[in-house]
Amino acid sequence: MQAIVLAAGKGTRMKSQTPKVLHEALGVPLLGHVLGHLRALGMKKPVVVIGAGAEKVKEYLGQESTTVLQAEQRGTGHAVMTAARALSDEQGDVLIWPGDMPLVRLETLKSFLKKHRVSGAAASVLAAMRDDPAGYGRILRREGRFCGIREELDASPEERRIREVNTGIYVFDKRKLFAALKRVRPHNKKNEIYLTDTIEILESQGEQLESFPLAESEEGQGVNSRADLAEVVRRLNQRHIRAHLEAGVTFIQPEQSLIGADVKIGQDTVIYPWTYIENGVRIGVGCRIGPFAKIRSGTQIGDGSTIGSFVEVNRSRIGRGVSAKHLAYLGDAAVGDGTNIGAGTITANYDGKNKHQTVIGRKVLVGSDSILIAPVRICDEARTGAGAVLTAGTVVDKGRLAVGVPARVLNRGRKKQ
Ligand code: UD1
Ligand code: MG
Repeated sequence: MQAIVLAAGKGTRMKSQTPKVLHEALGVPLLGHVLGHLRALGMKKPVVVIGAGAEKVKEYLGQESTTVLQAEQRGTGHAVMTAARALSDEQGDVLIWPGDMPLVRLETLKSFLKKHRVSGAAASVLAAMRDDPAGYGRILRREGRFCGIREELDASPEERRIREVNTGIYVFDKRKLFAALKRVRPHNKKNEIYLTDTIEILESQGEQLESFPLAESEEGQGVNSRADLAEVVRRLNQRHIRAHLEAGVTFIQPEQSLIGADVKIGQDTVIYPWTYIENGVRIGVGCRIGPFAKIRSGTQIGDGSTIGSFVEVNRSRIGRGVSAKHLAYLGDAAVGDGTNIGAGTITANYDGKNKHQTVIGRKVLVGSDSILIAPVRICDEARTGAGAVLTAGTVVDKGRLAVGVPARVLNRGRKKQ
């Protein structure tokens, strides 16, 4: 099956210079959430309809998708017509997904596709029950059977009371869809070609139509405004935290922390409040993280380590039993088992052009307020004095002590060797 992702809209209600689909929810653009699922479903190269901010969206997409330009945003139906030429064949079904619907789970989508296949319908819509349906197209039923979708602006007061709404995710028989789209006219308040109008056309032709409601209606939350975006972030985060709680992680004040996608946290680790853990971070068992910690993507933390208050760790490998309890920045660093990072330690990893590595061995004592100007290497069991500034290229051999500004490596070992 091929997929069309609708991402050309201006997103007027966002009041932004950034195209709506590039706004991020927990570090991933809205469009990325959708594309991740399509990839997982094995739908390679979806057709993405771009328009507003096309250059930026295209740049983000790279080679992963086929893009078609909808130069003028004349409605969702028009957007799908624009995509037609990029579809590889004329037969079969097509999945349509708006780029501003990031909360639908992969499992939900799989079961939706399966229900559609089993039903043999010409079109299936993924619907949602909402306490507040405002802003969504309403699902119309005649004698219980799905027969159309009415947009909010065009709905009668009675229709507005319908709580079953369109998520904007559909599967259509391609041939029937494009035949119906040719007949859609912009007879509505927005003067747009609505994709949703194809439902009534197919119904009038006696085609079988299905509307499958979401088991969890929260998945049907779309993003039209900043308030919607905040709500989506809150729900995604809640979902991630719930999974970690179930897996044996303690959160002190769960919703005060932000946890990205694909984060792994070992059992009995405690996450203190106001902690931000970015996508893909790995944390071992029995760690203590936070309060006020920021663990950024590309970081791995070994079992039993403590990353305390106001510590930021970025693209680093932290060993087991490491302590970085207060006020530190570890970026592009490798830290060996049992090492203590004193308060105020900074790895100066960026020289204005390039990032450099800091390698710290096992059982090292990095003194408070040490500045390690990367690349720097501190071998096992070595120490730095408080306030030491290690200039780029410094190597502190095993067991040695480095002190001063810039630091001198003293000619005596820490222990007699
Ligand atoms: C649409 C549906 C509505 C549904 C809701 C779910 C229509 C007419 N209405 O309304 O029934 O409840 O989604 O969120 O389809 N887009 C284009 N080109 C255009 C217009 C829109 O690519 O010319 C894209 C937008 O970028 C967006 C998606 O289509 O990703 C939906 O457009 P949007 O304006 O958000 O439609 P809604 O008003 O939310
Ligand atoms: Mg929308």
